[in-house]
Amino acid sequence: MEQYIIKGGVPLTGDVTIGGAKNAALAILAASVMTDDTVVIENLPDVNDTKVLLNAMESVGVLVKHEDRHTVHINAAQIHSVTIHTEYIKKIRASYYMLGALLGKYNEACVALPGGCNIGMRPIDQHIKGFQALGAEVNLERGMITAKAEKLHAAHIYLDVVTVGATINLMMAACLAEGRTIIENAAKEPHVVDLANFLSSMGANIKGAGTDVIRINGVERLHGTEYSIIPDQIEAGSFMLCGAATGGDITVNNVIPKHLESISAKLRETGCEIIESDDAVRVKAPDRLRHTHVKTLPYPGFPTDMQPQIVAALGLADGTSIVTESIFENRFRYVPELLKMGANINIEGGTAIIEGVRGYSGADLSAPDLRAGAALVIAGLAAPDITTIDSINYIERGYEDFPEKLKHLGARIRKIDAEKEETRAHLLAV
Ligand code: UD1
Repeated sequence: MEQYIIKGGVPLTGDVTIGGAKNAALAILAASVMTDDTVVIENLPDVNDTKVLLNAMESVGVLVKHEDRHTVHINAAQIHSVTIHTEYIKKIRASYYMLGALLGKYNEACVALPGGCNIGMRPIDQHIKGFQALGAEVNLERGMITAKAEKLHAAHIYLDVVTVGATINLMMAACLAEGRTIIENAAKEPHVVDLANFLSSMGANIKGAGTDVIRINGVERLHGTEYSIIPDQIEAGSFMLCGAATGGDITVNNVIPKHLESISAKLRETGCEIIESDDAVRVKAPDRLRHTHVKTLPYPGFPTDMQPQIVAALGLADGTSIVTESIFENRFRYVPELLKMGANINIEGGTAIIEGVRGYSGADLSAPDLRAGAALVIAGLAAPDITTIDSINYIERGYEDFPEKLKHLGARIRKIDAEKEETRAHLLAV
């Protein structure tokens, strides 16, 4: 069983380079099958989620060639099936982007019902409603969703909730549908914009991505392209929180500071100094953070994917903080783990009431999901004694070389195979 073992209490300092955005990569990889030409994708993060999606694509005949760790050539001319099987969808929810991509290209797709992180109900009614509006017949049978159309046509779609997944799926399907599709109440996340830019570089005609109305004029075909994925907002934010929670001084490089504004604003409220330049953000933390209040919201609000990390940091702040989760209903499953470390947090419905404590003590923990896992790493980095974290496969779904990058900032962290390796003291001896 693989674990992270951390001996915290060291203020992290120095520079870290942020990789390509996982959530943009998942959408862009799926969309790359919409042409028979070769597509070259750069700045692809080397994380488990992108590996699983590439495997799912290969399972239906997509050719995938790695030029280097972060560059991949994709050719989907030889696709022999429009069915993506359960094994992939169970591992990553975003395999359902293959629905929009395959439906757009072949007018037919069949994908298992999505799994992914257990953070709430996560219905897909808006995806289905949108596909139907575009002229597809959608059936749910034996855990599979089948979408099929004679020919897709444009539609005026109003999303009842702001959903990243449905916005992305419908944007892909509409690219090759005849006429002008309008998606209202669309998600505005940076990865929605990145996907739109990618599709446009393939010849799609998309206007308004990044606002809440996206207009898509269907085109006959999409062509090959070379495209570099945007930096990962959440990886960057997670490192900013590592700096903040340890009283450190960290610069995150290769970022788009605009995408980090909601996180920077909250860190300023906690007493951190935030210095922005063109493609970097520096976080200089005070000895002790001040309390603040946070509510998760769709972009440009504070991201739900940063909620666990900021709670881990505010658990150490001076005073009472209130963090409200408004996107997913089951996103505090890591709180019992923080309690083991001495945190004082009460959950009431979708709200965490956090009485800051002076310090955490190390504990044996288990990551309940991806971002919650990152929060436990942050707490472990702040605790002066030893913390172990199990189920790190969740963390590795979305963070490339997390322990190595943290070590470079001065953290004492190792990934070990708990069954094989020796005593903790030995492992941590410098
Ligand atoms: C994506 C991100 C995830 C992030 C989330 C919110 C990817 C691969 N995942 O997830 O990391 O936490 O956005 O920023 O990019 N909803 C419905 N009906 C639907 C679809 C969604 O009611 O058909 C609801 C959800 O239950 C949730 C809200 O809409 O309450 C937002 O979900 P959505 O934006 O779709 O999240 P994902 O795309 O699954």
